[in-house]
Amino acid sequence: MRILVTGGAGFIGSEYVRRRLESDPTARITVLDKLTYSGVEANLAPVSEHSGYTLVRGDICEPDVVDQVMTGQDAVVHFAAESHVDRSIYGAGPFVRSNVMGTQVLLDAARRHGVGRFVHVSTDEVYGSISEGSWTEGWPLAPNSPYSASKAGSDLLALAYHRTHGLDVVVTRCTNNYGPYQFPEKAIPLFITNLIDGNTVPLYGDGRNIRDWLHVSDHCQGIELVLKGGRAGEVYHIGGGTELSNHKLTGLLLDAVGAGWDRVEYVADRKGHDLRYSLDDSKIREQLGYAPQVSFTEGLAATVAWYRAHRSWWEPLKERAELR
Ligand SMILES: NC(=O)c1ccc[n+]([C@@H]2O[C@H](COP(=O)([O-])OP(=O)(O)OC[C@H]3O[C@@H](n4cnc5c(N)ncnc54)[C@H](O)[C@@H]3O)[C@@H](O)[C@H]2O)c1
Repeated sequence: MRILVTGGAGFIGSEYVRRRLESDPTARITVLDKLTYSGVEANLAPVSEHSGYTLVRGDICEPDVVDQVMTGQDAVVHFAAESHVDRSIYGAGPFVRSNVMGTQVLLDAARRHGVGRFVHVSTDEVYGSISEGSWTEGWPLAPNSPYSASKAGSDLLALAYHRTHGLDVVVTRCTNNYGPYQFPEKAIPLFITNLIDGNTVPLYGDGRNIRDWLHVSDHCQGIELVLKGGRAGEVYHIGGGTELSNHKLTGLLLDAVGAGWDRVEYVADRKGHDLRYSLDDSKIREQLGYAPQVSFTEGLAATVAWYRAHRSWWEPLKERAELR
Protein backbone atom coordinates (compact mmCIF):
# COMPACT_ATOMS: atom_id res chain seq x y z
CA MET A 1 0.00 0.00 0.00
CA ARG A 2 1.34 3.45 -0.91
CA ILE A 3 0.49 5.99 1.77
CA LEU A 4 0.76 9.75 1.82
CA VAL A 5 1.38 10.90 5.40
CA THR A 6 0.90 14.63 5.96
CA GLY A 7 2.65 16.17 8.97
CA GLY A 8 4.87 13.09 9.19
CA ALA A 9 7.77 15.05 10.70
CA GLY A 10 5.74 16.08 13.75
CA PHE A 11 5.28 14.25 17.04
CA ILE A 12 2.51 11.76 16.21
CA GLY A 13 3.06 11.61 12.43
CA SER A 14 6.72 10.66 12.86
CA GLU A 15 5.81 7.90 15.33
CA TYR A 16 3.36 6.57 12.75
CA VAL A 17 5.95 6.66 9.94
CA ARG A 18 8.76 5.11 12.01
CA ARG A 19 6.46 2.39 13.30
CA ARG A 20 5.16 1.47 9.85
CA LEU A 21 8.49 1.50 8.03
CA GLU A 22 10.36 -0.29 10.83
CA SER A 23 7.83 -3.14 10.81
CA ASP A 24 7.47 -3.53 7.04
CA PRO A 25 10.34 -3.56 4.54
CA THR A 26 7.87 -3.34 1.65
CA ALA A 27 5.98 -0.28 2.98
CA ARG A 28 5.86 2.83 0.78
CA ILE A 29 5.38 6.15 2.54
CA THR A 30 5.61 9.69 1.20
CA VAL A 31 5.73 12.31 3.94
CA LEU A 32 4.43 15.76 3.02
CA ASP A 33 5.49 18.24 5.68
CA LYS A 34 6.07 21.98 5.67
CA LEU A 35 8.61 21.56 8.48
CA THR A 36 7.11 24.36 10.54
CA TYR A 37 8.60 25.07 13.99
CA SER A 38 7.15 21.74 15.23
CA GLY A 39 8.17 19.63 12.23
CA VAL A 40 11.62 18.15 12.74
CA GLU A 41 13.30 16.20 9.95
CA ALA A 42 15.51 14.42 12.49
CA ASN A 43 12.37 12.72 13.87
CA LEU A 44 12.48 10.57 10.74
CA ALA A 45 16.23 9.86 10.80
CA PRO A 46 15.73 6.28 12.09
CA VAL A 47 13.90 5.36 8.84
CA SER A 48 15.58 7.71 6.37
CA GLU A 49 17.47 4.81 4.71
CA HIS A 50 14.33 2.73 4.18
CA SER A 51 13.81 2.26 0.43
CA GLY A 52 10.09 3.04 0.75
CA TYR A 53 10.57 6.43 2.45
CA THR A 54 10.30 9.79 0.70
CA LEU A 55 10.13 13.21 2.36
CA VAL A 56 8.68 16.14 0.45
CA ARG A 57 8.98 19.52 2.11
CA GLY A 58 5.79 21.31 1.17
CA ASP A 59 2.59 22.95 2.32
CA ILE A 60 -0.77 21.12 2.34
CA CYS A 61 -2.38 24.44 1.35
CA GLU A 62 -0.53 24.48 -2.00
CA PRO A 63 -2.69 22.64 -4.58
CA ASP A 64 0.22 22.06 -7.04
CA VAL A 65 2.44 20.42 -4.44
CA VAL A 66 -0.44 18.35 -3.08
CA ASP A 67 -1.41 17.27 -6.59
CA GLN A 68 2.10 15.99 -7.27
CA VAL A 69 2.45 13.97 -4.08
CA MET A 70 -1.10 12.57 -4.29
CA THR A 71 -0.36 10.84 -7.61
CA GLY A 72 -0.38 7.06 -7.24
CA GLN A 73 -1.26 6.98 -3.52
CA ASP A 74 -3.59 4.29 -2.19
CA ALA A 75 -4.34 6.10 1.07
CA VAL A 76 -3.79 9.34 2.98
CA VAL A 77 -3.17 9.60 6.71
CA HIS A 78 -3.60 13.28 7.49
CA PHE A 79 -1.81 14.57 10.60
CA ALA A 80 -0.58 17.97 9.38
CA ALA A 81 -1.98 20.77 11.50
CA GLU A 82 -1.15 23.68 13.72
CA SER A 83 -1.56 21.86 17.01
CA HIS A 84 -0.87 24.08 20.02
CA VAL A 85 -3.91 25.62 21.75
CA ASP A 86 -1.91 28.47 23.32
CA ARG A 87 -0.59 29.57 19.93
CA SER A 88 -4.15 29.56 18.54
CA ILE A 89 -5.16 31.99 21.31
CA TYR A 90 -2.39 34.41 20.29
CA GLY A 91 -3.23 34.11 16.59
CA ALA A 92 -5.85 31.94 14.87
CA GLY A 93 -4.89 32.69 11.25
CA PRO A 94 -2.37 29.85 10.71
CA PHE A 95 -4.84 27.44 12.34
CA VAL A 96 -7.66 28.25 9.98
CA ARG A 97 -5.28 28.20 7.01
CA SER A 98 -3.52 24.89 7.67
CA ASN A 99 -6.20 22.99 9.54
CA VAL A 100 -9.26 23.97 7.51
CA MET A 101 -8.03 25.14 4.11
CA GLY A 102 -5.17 22.64 4.00
CA THR A 103 -7.58 19.79 4.70
CA GLN A 104 -9.86 20.99 1.91
CA VAL A 105 -6.96 21.07 -0.58
CA LEU A 106 -6.03 17.51 0.41
CA LEU A 107 -9.61 16.25 0.18
CA ASP A 108 -10.05 17.74 -3.29
CA ALA A 109 -6.81 16.17 -4.49
CA ALA A 110 -7.67 12.79 -2.95
CA ARG A 111 -10.97 12.89 -4.81
CA ARG A 112 -9.39 13.83 -8.13
CA HIS A 113 -6.78 11.09 -7.82
CA GLY A 114 -9.24 8.39 -6.73
CA VAL A 115 -7.41 7.71 -3.46
CA GLY A 116 -8.82 4.63 -1.70
CA ARG A 117 -8.95 5.83 1.89
CA PHE A 118 -8.49 9.15 3.68
CA VAL A 119 -7.84 8.98 7.44
CA HIS A 120 -8.39 12.38 9.02
CA VAL A 121 -6.65 12.53 12.40
CA SER A 122 -8.53 14.68 14.90
CA THR A 123 -8.95 15.37 18.57
CA ASP A 124 -11.39 15.05 21.49
CA GLU A 125 -11.12 18.84 21.89
CA VAL A 126 -13.75 19.33 19.15
CA TYR A 127 -16.44 18.42 21.70
CA GLY A 128 -15.56 21.23 24.11
CA SER A 129 -15.60 20.25 27.79
CA ILE A 130 -17.58 17.63 29.73
CA SER A 131 -17.94 17.71 33.52
CA GLU A 132 -19.00 14.07 33.90
CA GLY A 133 -19.48 11.02 31.69
CA SER A 134 -17.79 10.53 28.32
CA TRP A 135 -18.47 11.61 24.75
CA THR A 136 -19.66 9.10 22.19
CA GLU A 137 -18.97 9.56 18.46
CA GLY A 138 -22.34 11.16 17.68
CA TRP A 139 -21.98 13.93 20.29
CA PRO A 140 -22.49 17.49 18.95
CA LEU A 141 -19.32 19.46 18.38
CA ALA A 142 -18.85 22.51 20.64
CA PRO A 143 -15.19 23.56 20.42
CA ASN A 144 -13.96 26.36 22.67
CA SER A 145 -10.49 27.32 21.37
CA PRO A 146 -9.52 28.53 17.90
CA TYR A 147 -7.43 25.33 17.62
CA SER A 148 -10.35 23.01 18.38
CA ALA A 149 -12.72 25.10 16.26
CA SER A 150 -10.37 24.74 13.28
CA LYS A 151 -10.12 20.99 13.88
CA ALA A 152 -13.93 20.73 14.14
CA GLY A 153 -14.21 22.59 10.82
CA SER A 154 -11.81 20.16 9.18
CA ASP A 155 -13.64 17.13 10.63
CA LEU A 156 -16.94 18.37 9.19
CA LEU A 157 -15.36 19.04 5.82
CA ALA A 158 -13.84 15.56 5.72
CA LEU A 159 -17.17 13.94 6.57
CA ALA A 160 -18.94 16.15 4.02
CA TYR A 161 -16.58 14.88 1.29
CA HIS A 162 -17.73 11.38 2.11
CA ARG A 163 -21.38 12.31 2.06
CA THR A 164 -21.23 14.59 -0.99
CA HIS A 165 -18.57 12.95 -3.13
CA GLY A 166 -18.40 9.40 -1.78
CA LEU A 167 -14.76 9.83 -0.77
CA ASP A 168 -13.66 7.01 1.54
CA VAL A 169 -13.10 9.17 4.63
CA VAL A 170 -12.69 8.01 8.23
CA VAL A 171 -12.15 10.40 11.14
CA THR A 172 -10.28 9.53 14.33
CA ARG A 173 -10.58 11.58 17.50
CA CYS A 174 -7.99 10.96 20.16
CA THR A 175 -7.26 12.11 23.69
CA ASN A 176 -4.03 13.82 24.82
CA ASN A 177 -0.87 12.08 23.63
CA TYR A 178 2.52 11.85 25.31
CA GLY A 179 5.77 10.09 24.45
CA PRO A 180 9.13 10.68 22.77
CA TYR A 181 9.68 13.39 20.11
CA GLN A 182 6.87 15.63 21.39
CA PHE A 183 7.71 19.25 20.78
CA PRO A 184 8.84 20.71 24.13
CA GLU A 185 6.16 23.43 24.24
CA LYS A 186 3.49 20.84 25.20
CA ALA A 187 2.90 20.26 28.91
CA ILE A 188 4.61 16.91 29.55
CA PRO A 189 7.88 17.54 27.63
CA LEU A 190 7.98 21.19 28.76
CA PHE A 191 7.68 20.15 32.39
CA ILE A 192 10.18 17.27 32.11
CA THR A 193 12.84 19.36 30.36
CA ASN A 194 12.35 22.37 32.67
CA LEU A 195 12.68 20.11 35.72
CA ILE A 196 15.75 18.32 34.33
CA ASP A 197 17.35 21.75 33.96
CA GLY A 198 16.50 22.77 37.54
CA ASN A 199 13.88 25.32 36.42
CA THR A 200 10.30 25.89 37.50
CA VAL A 201 7.19 24.65 35.67
CA PRO A 202 4.10 26.78 34.90
CA LEU A 203 0.84 25.25 36.15
CA TYR A 204 -2.33 26.85 34.79
CA GLY A 205 -4.91 28.14 37.30
CA ASP A 206 -5.43 25.73 40.18
CA GLY A 207 -4.44 22.65 38.14
CA ARG A 208 -7.87 21.01 38.37
CA ASN A 209 -8.31 20.59 34.59
CA ILE A 210 -8.56 16.91 33.66
CA ARG A 211 -7.05 15.24 30.61
CA ASP A 212 -7.10 11.60 29.47
CA TRP A 213 -3.54 10.53 28.56
CA LEU A 214 -2.54 8.05 25.87
CA HIS A 215 0.90 6.92 24.77
CA VAL A 216 1.59 8.01 21.19
CA SER A 217 2.29 4.43 20.07
CA ASP A 218 -1.23 3.41 21.14
CA HIS A 219 -2.70 6.32 19.20
CA CYS A 220 -0.86 5.07 16.10
CA GLN A 221 -2.07 1.53 16.73
CA GLY A 222 -5.64 2.89 16.71
CA ILE A 223 -5.06 4.86 13.50
CA GLU A 224 -3.69 1.74 11.78
CA LEU A 225 -6.78 -0.27 12.81
CA VAL A 226 -9.06 2.45 11.45
CA LEU A 227 -7.05 2.73 8.22
CA LYS A 228 -7.45 -1.01 7.62
CA GLY A 229 -10.87 -1.77 9.09
CA GLY A 230 -12.82 1.43 9.76
CA ARG A 231 -16.10 2.01 7.93
CA ALA A 232 -16.21 4.86 5.42
CA GLY A 233 -17.92 8.01 6.66
CA GLU A 234 -17.55 7.09 10.34
CA VAL A 235 -15.82 8.59 13.36
CA TYR A 236 -13.71 6.50 15.77
CA HIS A 237 -12.60 7.55 19.23
CA ILE A 238 -9.14 6.51 20.39
CA GLY A 239 -9.03 6.77 24.18
CA GLY A 240 -6.40 6.40 26.84
CA GLY A 241 -8.17 5.47 30.02
CA THR A 242 -5.83 7.46 32.27
CA GLU A 243 -7.68 10.57 33.41
CA LEU A 244 -5.56 12.87 35.52
CA SER A 245 -5.91 16.43 36.75
CA ASN A 246 -3.02 18.66 35.74
CA HIS A 247 -2.22 18.93 39.45
CA LYS A 248 -1.90 15.15 39.79
CA LEU A 249 0.14 14.92 36.57
CA THR A 250 2.49 17.62 37.85
CA GLY A 251 2.98 15.62 41.07
CA LEU A 252 3.90 12.51 39.06
CA LEU A 253 6.39 14.46 36.95
CA LEU A 254 7.97 16.06 40.02
CA ASP A 255 8.36 12.59 41.57
CA ALA A 256 9.82 11.16 38.36
CA VAL A 257 12.52 13.84 38.28
CA GLY A 258 13.03 13.96 42.07
CA ALA A 259 11.83 17.57 42.46
CA GLY A 260 9.48 19.22 44.98
CA TRP A 261 6.42 21.48 44.76
CA ASP A 262 8.63 24.54 45.26
CA ARG A 263 9.45 24.16 41.55
CA VAL A 264 5.83 24.81 40.54
CA GLU A 265 4.81 28.30 39.52
CA TYR A 266 1.04 28.87 39.42
CA VAL A 267 0.23 31.04 36.39
CA ALA A 268 -2.97 32.74 35.18
CA ASP A 269 -5.35 30.21 33.66
CA ARG A 270 -5.48 29.71 29.89
CA LYS A 271 -8.33 31.71 28.31
CA GLY A 272 -11.38 29.50 27.69
CA HIS A 273 -9.59 26.56 29.34
CA ASP A 274 -11.67 23.37 28.96
CA LEU A 275 -12.17 21.67 32.32
CA ARG A 276 -12.33 18.05 31.29
CA TYR A 277 -12.08 15.84 28.21
CA SER A 278 -13.30 12.25 28.21
CA LEU A 279 -13.92 9.88 25.31
CA ASP A 280 -16.01 6.73 25.24
CA ASP A 281 -13.87 4.51 22.99
CA SER A 282 -15.95 1.32 23.18
CA LYS A 283 -16.68 1.48 19.42
CA ILE A 284 -13.08 1.01 18.29
CA ARG A 285 -12.44 -1.53 21.05
CA GLU A 286 -15.47 -3.65 20.13
CA GLN A 287 -15.44 -3.26 16.35
CA LEU A 288 -11.71 -3.14 15.56
CA GLY A 289 -10.05 -4.83 18.58
CA TYR A 290 -8.26 -1.72 19.83
CA ALA A 291 -6.62 -2.02 23.24
CA PRO A 292 -3.91 0.34 24.53
CA GLN A 293 -0.66 -1.52 25.26
CA VAL A 294 1.33 1.01 27.27
CA SER A 295 0.38 1.65 30.89
CA PHE A 296 0.67 5.27 31.96
CA THR A 297 3.20 4.43 34.68
CA GLU A 298 5.54 2.61 32.27
CA GLY A 299 4.99 5.09 29.46
CA LEU A 300 5.68 8.12 31.61
CA ALA A 301 8.86 6.60 33.07
CA ALA A 302 10.08 5.73 29.56
CA THR A 303 9.22 9.24 28.34
CA VAL A 304 11.16 10.90 31.17
CA ALA A 305 14.12 8.59 30.40
CA TRP A 306 13.90 9.50 26.70
CA TYR A 307 14.07 13.25 27.39
CA ARG A 308 16.96 12.70 29.79
CA ALA A 309 18.83 10.81 27.06
CA HIS A 310 17.99 13.19 24.18
CA ARG A 311 19.02 16.66 25.30
CA SER A 312 20.62 17.19 21.89
CA TRP A 313 17.14 16.81 20.35
CA TRP A 314 15.14 19.16 22.61
CA GLU A 315 17.62 21.80 23.70
CA PRO A 316 17.99 23.49 20.28
CA LEU A 317 14.20 23.32 19.77
CA LYS A 318 13.55 25.07 23.07
CA GLU A 319 16.18 27.71 22.35
CA ARG A 320 14.77 28.39 18.89
CA ALA A 321 11.20 28.66 20.20
CA GLU A 322 12.37 30.65 23.26
CA LEU A 323 10.62 28.22 25.61
CA ARG A 324 11.12 28.09 29.34
N1 LIG B 1 -0.80 15.91 20.36
C1 LIG B 1 -1.97 15.44 20.76
O1 LIG B 1 -2.13 15.17 21.96
C2 LIG B 1 -3.08 15.18 19.77
C3 LIG B 1 -4.23 14.51 20.22
C4 LIG B 1 -5.25 14.24 19.29
C5 LIG B 1 -5.11 14.63 17.97
N2 LIG B 1 -3.99 15.29 17.57
C6 LIG B 1 -3.87 15.67 16.15
O2 LIG B 1 -2.80 14.91 15.61
C7 LIG B 1 -2.15 15.65 14.57
C8 LIG B 1 -0.67 15.72 14.83
O3 LIG B 1 -0.45 16.37 16.09
P1 LIG B 1 1.03 16.51 16.70
O4 LIG B 1 0.89 16.61 18.16
O5 LIG B 1 1.91 15.47 16.10
O6 LIG B 1 1.43 17.94 16.12
P2 LIG B 1 2.86 18.54 15.77
O7 LIG B 1 2.70 20.02 15.90
O8 LIG B 1 3.93 17.86 16.54
O9 LIG B 1 3.07 18.17 14.24
C9 LIG B 1 2.38 18.82 13.20
C10 LIG B 1 3.14 18.57 11.91
O10 LIG B 1 2.38 19.15 10.83
C11 LIG B 1 3.27 19.92 10.02
N3 LIG B 1 2.49 21.00 9.39
C12 LIG B 1 1.82 22.01 10.01
N4 LIG B 1 1.22 22.79 9.09
C13 LIG B 1 1.50 22.26 7.87
C14 LIG B 1 1.17 22.61 6.54
N5 LIG B 1 0.44 23.70 6.25
N6 LIG B 1 1.61 21.83 5.53
C15 LIG B 1 2.37 20.73 5.78
N7 LIG B 1 2.74 20.37 7.03
C16 LIG B 1 2.31 21.11 8.05
C17 LIG B 1 4.34 20.44 10.97
O11 LIG B 1 5.53 20.81 10.29
C18 LIG B 1 4.52 19.24 11.88
O12 LIG B 1 5.47 18.34 11.36
C19 LIG B 1 -2.85 17.01 14.51
O13 LIG B 1 -3.79 17.00 13.47
C20 LIG B 1 -3.54 17.12 15.88
O14 LIG B 1 -4.69 17.91 15.79
C21 LIG B 1 -2.97 15.57 18.44
